[in-house]
Amino acid sequence: MRNDLGPLFSPFACGPLVLANRFVMSPMTRQFSPGGVPGENVAAYYARRAAAGVGLIITEGVGVDHPAAIGHGSMGEHDIPVLHGHGALSGWRRVVDGVHAVGGKIMPQLWHMGGIRQEGTPPHPQAPSLDPYNVTDEDIVAVIAAFARSAANAKAVGFDGVALHGAHGYLIDSFLWAATNTCNDAWGGDILRRTRFATEVVQAVRTAVGPGFPIVFRLSQWKLQDYEARLAETPEQLAVITDSLSEAGVDIFDVSTRVFSTPAFAGSEMGLAGWVRRLSGKAVITVGGIGFDRELAASFAQPTLAIDNLDEVVRRFTAGEFDLVALGRALLMDAEWVNKAREGKPFAPFDLSAYARLD
Ligand SMILES: Cc1cc2nc3c(=O)[nH]c(=O)nc-3n(C[C@H](O)[C@H](O)[C@H](O)COP(=O)(O)O)c2cc1C
Repeated sequence: MRNDLGPLFSPFACGPLVLANRFVMSPMTRQFSPGGVPGENVAAYYARRAAAGVGLIITEGVGVDHPAAIGHGSMGEHDIPVLHGHGALSGWRRVVDGVHAVGGKIMPQLWHMGGIRQEGTPPHPQAPSLDPYNVTDEDIVAVIAAFARSAANAKAVGFDGVALHGAHGYLIDSFLWAATNTCNDAWGGDILRRTRFATEVVQAVRTAVGPGFPIVFRLSQWKLQDYEARLAETPEQLAVITDSLSEAGVDIFDVSTRVFSTPAFAGSEMGLAGWVRRLSGKAVITVGGIGFDRELAASFAQPTLAIDNLDEVVRRFTAGEFDLVALGRALLMDAEWVNKAREGKPFAPFDLSAYARLD
């Protein structure tokens, strides 16, 4: 084993959640679940990564039990899984059992696409897409209840916790972000009111799963609609969001950045995960650009190399910036990535064709 990576191979505990190491599989939509049901291929895909040393898997985004939660997304996504109905629940039970059988841990990422969902697309083409400016109080109540139901289902099928997609401009984030939440009512206005929807989702999920069941919340400054967007211009604004969500029941923040080492605010080299950890006192996950010389968006358009940038990960981990380290593309393209890092072996090359496969 590479001695310098020792800290990343130390165990992690958060309440009842105990992980063998600090590596997390970042949520990645894969579009291999026709009818919303994950099959044997999806179960094998996750089990392969758990068996190859990934401490925690956060699944692809999973549509919550609300008609407008999913559809085709801005990139034409389809065949996205759900977490309700007999078929999907049996499918997920197989996924969870497969991961547990090899000693791994797994949580589903609960997702409502909000305004990014394309109107008129399945599974419920007649359901209008939801944005902060067009939702009714009735819609809000229904969506919050949907998150709670899906979280309860996650617990019932044996997942080790639940992760909420509060990032990238989807429904929860569209309430947090001033550019999409232009309401001036109970759900919008200042940053505290923009956080209310997210907070109520977390509270309802906490009530549904009870104490001691880990809740992970993903947030991001960047949005699919605008990579330069900012939820918070200052640490003080960020603290309004993280305080409110922590109080509502979040245990771990999954801090989505395009490049994990980018300084979040002027005057400090600390990344966004470090700020969330400092402000909230909660455990945090960092993500973005680990294992590659280009970040996600650039890697679609420009030649990209698999690299070893774990020195910088260890340096920031040791400095106390984050507790857990998530990998997206690295684990999509190389199921053995974590074991290879541990042994100092070369990683599989960057390969766009891997997006179309589930191996
Ligand atoms: C194919 C693909 C699908 C993704 N789907 C999701 C998703 O469903 N939910 C989410 O929060 N992020 C999603 N992401 C973003 C990743 O979780 C991760 O934050 C991003 O890829 C940056 O990490 P990386 O540089 O290690 O790839 C996706 C990324 C990829 C490559």
